[in-house]
Amino acid sequence: EKGGHDWFMLKEIAEQPQAVADTLLGRLSDEGDLVLDEMRLSDQELRDIDKVFVVSCGTSYHAGLIAKYAIEHWTRIPVEVEVASEFRYRDPVLDRSTLVVVISQSGETMDTLMALRHAKEQKARVLAICNVNGSTIPRESDAVLYTHAGPEIAVASTKSFLAQIVACYLVGLILAQVRGIKYADEVAVIVRELQKLPEAVAQVLTQMEPVRELGRSMADAGTILFLGRHVGFPVALEGALKLKELAYIHAEGFAAGELKHGPIAVIDEGTPVVVIAPSPRGRSLLHGKVVSNIQEVRARGARTIVIAEEGDEDVVPYADHLIRVPRTPTLLAPVVTTVPLQVLACEIAATRGYDVDQPRNLAKSVTVE
Ligand code: F6R
Repeated sequence: EKGGHDWFMLKEIAEQPQAVADTLLGRLSDEGDLVLDEMRLSDQELRDIDKVFVVSCGTSYHAGLIAKYAIEHWTRIPVEVEVASEFRYRDPVLDRSTLVVVISQSGETMDTLMALRHAKEQKARVLAICNVNGSTIPRESDAVLYTHAGPEIAVASTKSFLAQIVACYLVGLILAQVRGIKYADEVAVIVRELQKLPEAVAQVLTQMEPVRELGRSMADAGTILFLGRHVGFPVALEGALKLKELAYIHAEGFAAGELKHGPIAVIDEGTPVVVIAPSPRGRSLLHGKVVSNIQEVRARGARTIVIAEEGDEDVVPYADHLIRVPRTPTLLAPVVTTVPLQVLACEIAATRGYDVDQPRNLAKSVTVE
């Protein structure tokens, strides 16, 4: 049933190219138009939206953080992202022209459901991104975009996360399309590049043996830090969450620029620091800054593990371990850079002798507030 894998989690990690492909399937025409009629929102309703909230929990919240970068950049509509358990208790400003995107793998998360109900009471339009057909959250939402990741059995989210990120891109692109931004060069390129993601994820998966070996060597770490900037920041948060929940090791994700404002003080001789490097020089203004951050932590004794695009040579002198991912446009990079972090957490947890699929204190769907 685990398809030859030791854990459901590893099986589900391996299924990610399919999860990404299936979430795109039938939603992009040959001409690069988005076909999302299933979403049940008219073009006019989509055009009327002047503000977006993305509301979710845990890993699904990290997908929301990535959505913000993409949706704001492509559409110029302001996007706020919030954990569901905070959202409704602070009286957020919502009205008919607000789109609230709720993201939930299970469709049953109570915090997210309560946030959705609050948004509806305030007359906002609610769009659910969900993996379980007919579950409560999509049933109560005005519109739904299903992720087609297939059933996820391991408690830790993997393939559903990648599928959620892809669904968020589709939401951004449809909002751009109804506003007539579709023929802007960048959006056209993104539509083409999206179709290459399943292959890119498959390529990352062929290179995971050294990552597993690295994981085995990190199993005794007392704390592990994750750094990223821009879309690499939510990926860092996700890497840290996976590690905490599976390996029970203290881990934190930081925006790399925040390092000097405090967190750098915790770095000690041998502290593993995982860095998600942005697209290389020339394609990201942030690359040089992240290279400096890697140098800074290394100068304080950190053991650096760097995830960087193929061909990025600038990081090589400062990486104690280098994990390569294929080239993608910056905004799409989380779909590939997340994968090694999942494998790393899984391997560290297994080396420590834990049940990767059923971590302590956690449930697959959290139906209490
Ligand atoms: C992490 C994880 C949790 C869920 C969170 C939301 O691996 O599985 O953080 O992401 O409980 O669950 P859903 O997406 O079902 O609402």
